Parts: sequence; C-alpha cells; structure tokens
Amino acid sequence: MTWLVTGGAGYIGAHVVRAFRNARIEVVVLDDLSSGHEEFVPDGVPFVRASILETDVVARTLEEHNCIGVVHVAGFKYAGVSVQRPLHTYTQNVTGTVSVLEAMQRAGVEAIVFSSSAATYGTPDVDLVTEATPTRPESPYGESKLIGEWLLADQGRATDLRHTSLRYFNVVGSGTPELRDTSPHNLFPLVLEALAQGRTPRINGTDYATPDGTCVRDYIHVADLAEAHVSAAKALAQGRDLLPVYNLGSGDGVSVRQIMDTMAQVTRIPFEPTIAERRPGDPARIVASGEAATRDLGWRMSHSLEQMVSTAWEARQAAQG
Ligand SMILES: NC(=O)c1ccc[n+]([C@@H]2O[C@H](COP(=O)([O-])OP(=O)(O)OC[C@H]3O[C@@H](n4cnc5c(N)ncnc54)[C@H](O)[C@@H]3O)[C@@H](O)[C@H]2O)c1
Repeated sequence: MTWLVTGGAGYIGAHVVRAFRNARIEVVVLDDLSSGHEEFVPDGVPFVRASILETDVVARTLEEHNCIGVVHVAGFKYAGVSVQRPLHTYTQNVTGTVSVLEAMQRAGVEAIVFSSSAATYGTPDVDLVTEATPTRPESPYGESKLIGEWLLADQGRATDLRHTSLRYFNVVGSGTPELRDTSPHNLFPLVLEALAQGRTPRINGTDYATPDGTCVRDYIHVADLAEAHVSAAKALAQGRDLLPVYNLGSGDGVSVRQIMDTMAQVTRIPFEPTIAERRPGDPARIVASGEAATRDLGWRMSHSLEQMVSTAWEARQAAQG
C-alpha cells in the first residue's frame, strides 16, 4: 500500500509525506534536492536521491517498494523565473511528468495525484474561480502545469490510469516547525525573512481596485492542503471516481495589507511597510471556490490567517537555531 511522493523533500511534499504517515499509509520519497532539503524527509521514510527525468530509477523505485500510486509534487515552481527559463521549466514539469507516467506504466502503477496550480487560470475575470473557469496561463510555468494535467487525462483515456490534479492557490504556513517554505519569491517567506533580518517588508501597489488598494489572494494552510492529498489517494485506491481537476482554494480573499498587519501582530515587530510600484502582471484579486474539493475530498480549511502566519513565523524562528 505504498505511495511514491516525488518532490517529497520540498515544502509541500514533506507535508504530504507526514500526512500520509499520520494516516498510516507507507511512503517512499524521490527527490533530486534541486530545491528540497534531505532533512525534511522524516526518519524511517525511504529516500531516493534522483531526478524524475531518470525514468528507469523512478520505475525501479515503484517496483522495489510495491507502490500502488504516486503523488507527483516535484516540479519547478517559479512562475517569474519560468519566463526567462522556459526550456528548463518545460523539461522539469512536462518532460518530467511524461517520465513519471512512463515509469508508472512500466511498473503497472495506476493512480496519480498531481500538484497543479492556480497559475493555469492566468488572470481570471471572475469573482470566484471554479473548475469551470477558462484556463489562460500567462507564463511557461502555468502552461507547463496545464500540460501536466492534460498528460494525466490523456494517459487516463488511453490506459487504466486513475488520476486527479489539484490546483493549489497560495500555500502558506507550516504544519510543524521543522518544515518551512524556503522559496525566495513567495510573499510569506519574503516578509518573514525581511523581518528576521531587521528590514522593512514591501507592498507592491496600493492602488488596486480592492477594498484597501492592495492585491487580494486566496491563502491556504499547507497542512490542510496535505490532508486533501490523503483523501485523493484513498479515493483513487478505492477506485472511486474523482474529477480530473480540483481547486484547493478557500473561497475567501485576504489582502496583502491584511497579511502585513497580521505579520506585525504575530511577530510583535511593529512596522509600516514600504510602498513600491505595482509589479507588472499582478492581478488585483484571485479567489477560488474549493466547493468541489470539499464535496469529493472532504477539503476544509482548519487554520485561520493568524495560524498561517504564526506557524510560518515559528518555523522561520526554529530555522535560525
Ligand atoms: N508553493 C505554492 O504556493 C504552490 C502553488 C501551486 C502549485 N505548487 C506546486 O507544488 C509543488 C511543490 O511546491 P513547493 O512549494 O513544495 O516547492 P519546492 O521547491 O519546495 O518543492 C519541489 C520539490 O521537488 C524537487 N524537485 C524539483 N525538480 C525535481 C526533479 N526533476 N526530480 C526530482 N525532484 C525534483 C525539489 O528538490 C523540491 O524538493 C510544485 O510542483 C509546485 O509547482 C506550489
């Protein structure tokens, strides 16, 4: 009953690994450590240091551990950087997913849960994004995630593969202080890093058509997100039909200003953010409905904004030693 977690040494993958273990489902991790950390893999979990592009290694890992499914988390996630490095992004996210599916076919593994992204929607012109909202990715990253979804769907039509793709919105917080988002581009780590180093965090744009003028996004806690993967894996293992795609969003928007206020409260570091120009391409508001995932996967947000910030801050403090 083992599941392979690709990218299991990364921020989200390591939380997925813990959620599976808490649900008493065995896991094996395959990760090339390009952005992950070996110490994020808990003791007792087999770890294979390899790239998903090494199809033979992925197939052998699936066979050796008698895997019944894959949670395919590994990928290159920097949308901004992907514009400068399209070939790298496509190789990691598209060729990499082909390789995982090829390895699964060879090993006779027929269930996969895929880490997709809100970036598949681009700048949706709706109040609440649902799975029926048209996809219009605006970066090689968003495109590569959409192609990943198509690969799963096409392979599902051609073979007995059971699959679902989970479109994450803004994933934040920590489920345990030893795990954290170390991304140099995401809002939470950027703000926390600035505060930890005594710098003043920055808001890009305060003249958006939103209640307080700053961008509104949909934030979800990584531990809640990880639980949705357990539900998806269990459903696929039981042969239950799932939709090809689910949004993992909260239905609720939080502004950058609200995040800053909560950061100041939680860290007890009073600060007034520096105001900078808008960043090109930042939409005013993106909020998604998670209703379909709630219905089919029991998806729920059990963490408040304060908990998202406080768990992220605790993990940042723990990393400082
Ligand atoms: N963090 C977010 O807010 C967010 C939102 C939407 C989607 N996602 C997707 O979720 C996934 C995980 O994101 P994360 O925030 O944990 O990022 P992360 O960079 O912490 O984790 C990615 C992991 O995959 C590994 N990896 C990358 N390329 C690999 C390869 N070729 N072979 C094997 N391992 C490889 C990395 O070493 C790392 O451990 C990514 O696919 C990302 O696109 C993340």
